[in-house]
Formats: sequence, structure tokens, C-alpha cells
Amino acid sequence: MADSRRNSIEEIRQKLNILDVVSEYVTVKRAGKNLKGLCPFHSEKTPSFTVNEDYQSWHCFGCGEHGDVFSFVMKIENLTFAEALERLAKRAGVELKPAGGFQINRRELLAKVNSVSAAYYSSILKKSLYAQQYLQSRGVTQDTITLFGIGYSLPDWDTLCKHLESKRISLKDAAEVGLVVLNNRNNTMYDRFRNRIVFPIHDIQSRVIGFGGRAVGDDIPKYLNSPETPLFNKSRMLYGLNFARKSITELGYVIVVEGYMDVVTAHQAGFVNSVATMGTALTTDHIKLLSRYTNKVVLSYDSDSAGMKAALKSATMFIEADIDVRIVRLPKGADPDSMIREGRTAEYSSIVSNALPLIDYKLALLTEKYDANIPSGRTAILKEAARIIADVDLFVERERYIKDLITYHPNLDIGNTKAQNQIRADVESIIKRKNRPAAVNIKQKAVSSVPSAVIIAENMILKALLKGHDKSELVIESLTPDHFKRDASRNAAKLIFEKYTKALPIIPASLIDEADDAAGKYISELIMSDNEPPVTDKALQDCIKRILKSKKSYKTSDILAPYIKQGNIKTDNNKEQTMQDLETYLRESGKLPNTKGSKGV
Ligand code: UTP
Ligand code: MN
Repeated sequence: MADSRRNSIEEIRQKLNILDVVSEYVTVKRAGKNLKGLCPFHSEKTPSFTVNEDYQSWHCFGCGEHGDVFSFVMKIENLTFAEALERLAKRAGVELKPAGGFQINRRELLAKVNSVSAAYYSSILKKSLYAQQYLQSRGVTQDTITLFGIGYSLPDWDTLCKHLESKRISLKDAAEVGLVVLNNRNNTMYDRFRNRIVFPIHDIQSRVIGFGGRAVGDDIPKYLNSPETPLFNKSRMLYGLNFARKSITELGYVIVVEGYMDVVTAHQAGFVNSVATMGTALTTDHIKLLSRYTNKVVLSYDSDSAGMKAALKSATMFIEADIDVRIVRLPKGADPDSMIREGRTAEYSSIVSNALPLIDYKLALLTEKYDANIPSGRTAILKEAARIIADVDLFVERERYIKDLITYHPNLDIGNTKAQNQIRADVESIIKRKNRPAAVNIKQKAVSSVPSAVIIAENMILKALLKGHDKSELVIESLTPDHFKRDASRNAAKLIFEKYTKALPIIPASLIDEADDAAGKYISELIMSDNEPPVTDKALQDCIKRILKSKKSYKTSDILAPYIKQGNIKTDNNKEQTMQDLETYLRESGKLPNTKGSKGV
């Protein structure tokens, strides 16, 4: 990064107080040295969002998000770094030096190429009866066309090129946003989108950042999208979010669909909280983006097998992110667009309201996979259902599913209770098989073998360095980053030590930026947990000694090495299996008590 830009960033940091900026979005109250409030990045009832004025940084102990004033504004306003910089510069009254300014102007310029092109496509649609008829045949109204800025690209190879040139826009810029393409053979430019209905893709501020083009005829591919450009990244964008975000907050949930047309038609029919991924699998960035607006998601994917697979995968990702997810089951061959266009809007609406949680959805799919009318089909359903239900954490919930399942029992004449008992026994035996406690315990011990005293010492030392302790030099001379036992503390130490050896200033908020994810989070936590009095010289020395004395941390592979060497267990790339082999060996050789039948170690 250019020095002048670095300087501007530091100047802005000094002139602004993070508390003023944060207070515009979050109500924070003083709690000791820190200030606390409800985290704006995940939903919570007790405040874990923490601001520290001394370090000008923030950290949420609930969701783990953290950073400085720049990252706060980026996250809460969904801006790029350059945009956040520009905004905060204005606020601080700092003039951005050319390097930063150039970037911002460049982005604006590229955005302008897009908006000029979108306007062009939409003017062409107005003149093309052919394209209008296509949209009409798909039930898209004039109002919807206007709202979404839908346009049309002519079949010729260079009409956009000519138009842009007439507006004095460089085709090189147009190529950078993917609207025109260079023909390498004769070094000329041609239009990417030809004879396609063009859907502008907007970012959250409704700027056009890319396009999706649907073939009007039988051209391949059916949909052509802008390539990845400095403005457009499909794995972070959701089509329609700029139109939907207000209603998502108001209605309290979002409907995620698969296609451009699904969004357009759904909005037209009143499902104004619908957004779509654009031909890519759902990513964690998509989830982060959505979780800023809601923690409830309804997945309304196509009912084909690709759609069902995608729904299972996406649902699992949402659950991991602690988001309440439901899955819609559309009739065979349908997608939201086709249902609504066929006039089945009320039916779609009720399907959306009755969308199923993941487990129920998986169980429902079984009845499609197997024929419940024949005993072998019912046996198969029960067998797979037991595996699905074994994933449910709560006993009472498992019981509920088991009760629902008895109708599929192949020999119901044995009576409901007996059938239930049989299903329950299957479920419980799968759960038992899954939780082999002893093997898991050995593994966990092996991995987290850093003694807590060492952890405390590491934390104290790094905190002292972050604060610029008088005796910092002592630490730098006595230790190397490699003395630190955990990946996060070691990487944090590397960064901090480097600042000291290069005599660079220690600015915790910018260290967090520079560090990798885990180390950044670690530094942020150190800063926020800093409520203790300054570390005394004696305590610092003790910490250094403790770290020097402590042995290398054990890795699983270190523990296994001697057993493998002596041929007691086979080496194997599968760690899980190897740990189990070790357990078996230790038991058989009498080194571990045989706990079969008891509760485990
Ligand atoms: P679908 O094939 O389900 O199309 O692709 P659709 O939305 O039902 O399209 P219509 O109704 O025939 O017009 C779903 C989404 O996948 C992406 C697009 O974003 C599309 O909306 N896609 C699909 C592509 O990017 N390229 C393709 O060739 C096809
Ligand atoms: Mn469709």
C-alpha cells in the first residue's frame, strides 16, 4: 500500500473516535473500561458487542466479528474498503492523497460504464417489439421492467461498443467490467451480450455492478453473466437484495430462490423479500450478507434433483451459521416463476409458509425415494430415517419424529408401542456408534495440550507488547515468535515482534487488519479483555521464564509416532481410524482399562 495512503488512514484514525461512529448505529453503555451494546451483526438479547476507546477497536464476543473503525463501517454499510475510507475521510476532514483517490474514481468510472450501458439496453428494449413480446409471454409487466431496469441487447456484434464510443467511454473500461470482449485475432472489441434480455445486477446501494443476460432464442448458454470484475463478485452478491432488503427486515425473513426470473416474477406477485444466487452455490459470504438483515431463511429452490441437493447443502450451511432455515417443497418440475405464472400464487404462498425444517425435509424426501406402499419400501424408509433422526440433538424432538414415523413401520400389526420401540432402538444404536467416547477423548487431549499457565503467560506478554510496556525489549530479546504454542498466538507474535524489530509503531486496530483471521480475532480479544492493571516487570519476567521452560506442545502426530515406529499400529492418513487403532491396541495390551459396557473414560 502506498505510503501516502497509509498516512491518510492513520490521520483519519487519529481524528475520529470510533465511539462516535459506532454510536450512530448501536446504543452502547459503559461497562468498566469498555462499552457494550447489542451486536448489529448478529441477533442477540444480551449485549456482547464491545467497543474499546483506548484501542479504537470493536469486538463481538457473540459472533466473533471484530475490527477497527474502517471495518465497522465496511460491515455495517456493506462498503468496500475504498468506499469506507472515502466516507470516513470526509467525516474526519482528511483529504485523500492521490493513491486512494485514484482507486475510488476508478470504481466510480467503472460503475458509470455500467449505468450508461444499462440505460442503453433499456432504451433498446423500448424499441424492440420482439423482446417486449418475449417478456410479455413470460408475464412480466411494464412496471416490473422499469423497477428492475430490464433491457435488451441487439443481435449485432458491436451496437454497445458504438454507443459507448459515442458517449466517449473507453472500450478498455467497458472490457474491464466485462461488457465488451477483446477479439484477439484482429484486436477489435465486440459486445458480450447479444440478443439477450438483460438484467442489471445492483449492489445494495442500487448501483449497477454487473449483468445477467437471458437468451431470447435457443442460444447457449441460457444465461450469460458478467465475469468477475473489480465491481462484481457473484459469490458475494445476491440478485434482488437491493429491492428486497427493506421487506426482509420488515417481514422478518428472506426467501432465497435460484434464478433471475424467479426473483422478478416473485416480486411482481408480492413476494418482495425474495433474492437469488446467480448460478453459483451458496457461499458463507452470502450467508454473512443475509444475516445482516434477518436470521430466518426460506429456501425456495427448484424441485429438480440439483435444486434438492443444493437445498440440503445450503440449509446445512445456514444451520451452522445459527440461522433458522426452512425448505420449500415445490411440485415436480416447478420453480417459483413457473408456479406464479401458472396462476398458482396462493398455492406457492402456502407452500412458502409451510416450508420444512431440514430434518423434516430430509424425512419427506424419503417418501419420494421409496415406495411406502410395499413392505420393502417401508423398511428402507425406516432404515434411512433412523440415521437422519440420530442427528437430532434433543431426545424429545427425536421422540416426536419417531412417533410420526410409525405409520411407515412394515409390520404395524405388532402395535404402535412396539413399532415405536423398534425404531427408537435403531436410532439409539446409531447414536451410540457415533459417539465412541474413549477414542474422541484421547484425540481431544492430544490436540489441546498447551497448559493453561502457558496460555496465560502468552496472553500477558502479548498484551504488554501491544501496550508498549517499558520492558518490551526484554521480551523481544528473550523469545522468538516460535516460542508461542498456539497458531493464533504465534502468528500474532510474529506480527508484533516484526513491528518492534523494524521500529514501526504498534497500532492495535491496524494489527488486527494485517493479521490472518484467527490471529486477528485473538489480538482483538486480548485488547478487549484488557481490564487488569499494567503488567509489572517482575510478572513479565516470570511469564518469559514460564514460556521458556514449557516444552513443545504435543501434536497428535507426536503422540502416535512411537507406536507407529514400534509397529503397534499402522500409519494411516485417516486420523480418526488411527486414533481408534491406538485405543484398541492400548486396551488389548492392558494399558487402558477395558470400559466396554460402562460409560467410557
Ligand atoms: P435455471 O436453469 O433454473 O433457469 O437457472 P431459470 O431461472 O428457471 O430460467 P428461465 O425461467 O428458464 O428463464 C437458474 C439460475 O442459474 C443461473 C442463472 O442465474 C439462472 O437464473 N444460470 C442458469 C446461469 O448462470 N447460466 C445458465 O446457463 C443457466
Ligand atoms: Mn424458470
